Amino acid sequence: MNHETRLHLAAHPFAYPLVRLLARLGPVVRVPGLGVVVNDAALARAVLTDERFRKDGPGSPGDLWTPVLGPSVLLNMEGPPHLALRRKLMPLFTPAYVSALVGDVLAEPLGRLSARLERGETVDLVDAMRSMAGAVICRVIGLGEVSEARARRLFADGERVVAMVSLRSRRLSDRQVAVARRVLDGIGEIARAAYEAGDESTVMGRMRAQGLSAAEARGAAGAFFLTGTETVATFVPRLIALLHDHRTPVADLDRAIEEAMRVTTPTPVMLRSVGTAARIGRVPVRPGDRVLIATHNCARAHGPFDPSRPHPPELRRLWFGAGPHFCIGYPLALAEIRAVASVLLSHNVRVVRRRPARGVLIPTYAHLWIRAA
Ligand code: HEM
Repeated sequence: MNHETRLHLAAHPFAYPLVRLLARLGPVVRVPGLGVVVNDAALARAVLTDERFRKDGPGSPGDLWTPVLGPSVLLNMEGPPHLALRRKLMPLFTPAYVSALVGDVLAEPLGRLSARLERGETVDLVDAMRSMAGAVICRVIGLGEVSEARARRLFADGERVVAMVSLRSRRLSDRQVAVARRVLDGIGEIARAAYEAGDESTVMGRMRAQGLSAAEARGAAGAFFLTGTETVATFVPRLIALLHDHRTPVADLDRAIEEAMRVTTPTPVMLRSVGTAARIGRVPVRPGDRVLIATHNCARAHGPFDPSRPHPPELRRLWFGAGPHFCIGYPLALAEIRAVASVLLSHNVRVVRRRPARGVLIPTYAHLWIRAA
């Protein structure tokens, strides 16, 4: 069994075998209690770009996150209000702005990481990534310089909230909502203070300059915090492990990253609620049905990890979504991943030991110890 499969089984011992089995039952399968499962990349793309499938109906991400984040945070919106908010937020994620932000926040931690590898130390990449991804998100939501301990604490808070969700979750319990709200209120307060300070060199200050209201900026900070921390932090150790396991020399870093994204699919499923009667492939769907796009199945159908093979058009970046909800943080995620991976590859790192994580939503390592070759 390869290491990636072990990660999935450690995270989801029952759900993962079931999801993989569904891939063999056809491109679209109705599963009682779960929803209509889509296993085919072209059909997944068709659903994601069709406005009859929504993120704000029963069984959608809106049902899960609106009680915690409020009604207007992109990932639970549709139509013109969604588009208007997205337009205001897009300028925060230009490649030039995010690479400057990442360069600034990660210069010191990456310097420290590089020095440790240089000295021949064994480094736990999982721990290093948690503090680096935590530091980037701290900066995005409006904290200035933060200690490693604070970045780690914030990361752990986000992880606790994300772990409340499982494949079958339709709603969070009252207790979960209360815990998640406490965490998100803390993030909201930090964001509000930065918004009011209005310094345009900060993300929150830029949001104010873009014409976002204080409530919109606060909601966006919460959404970025939940979607943009663990996704990045869990991916980098998996990327490095894949390159190590396949002994792949990296000729083109971006291509290696995209291929590792395909194989790992940090967001393994996407949810939609059917708004208007439609068909997905040969399966008719009714308003209120829940559609579960098994991104992982769609992506894995293209075979094992091999950065030399180009991706067919229907797969292109499907792991970041498609259509109106395509990941707005894609340039930031890529800037972070590139920055860390280039340092690690410059040391030609090798994996010396690893342990899969249990009880997490996004499969990953609990520890991945690496050393310079
Ligand atoms: C490896 C890293 C990441 C992956 C794999 C990823 C994946 C995704 C996917 C698949 C979606 C679309 C979900 C759907 O259509 O249901 C999405 C949306 C989103 N992502 Fe990311 N993401 C990553 C990093 C980030 C980062 C760093 C941020 C921001 C700080 C971010 C913020 C968002 C937001 C706000 C949305 C909702 C956009 C909308 O609904 O219009 N993501 N992401």
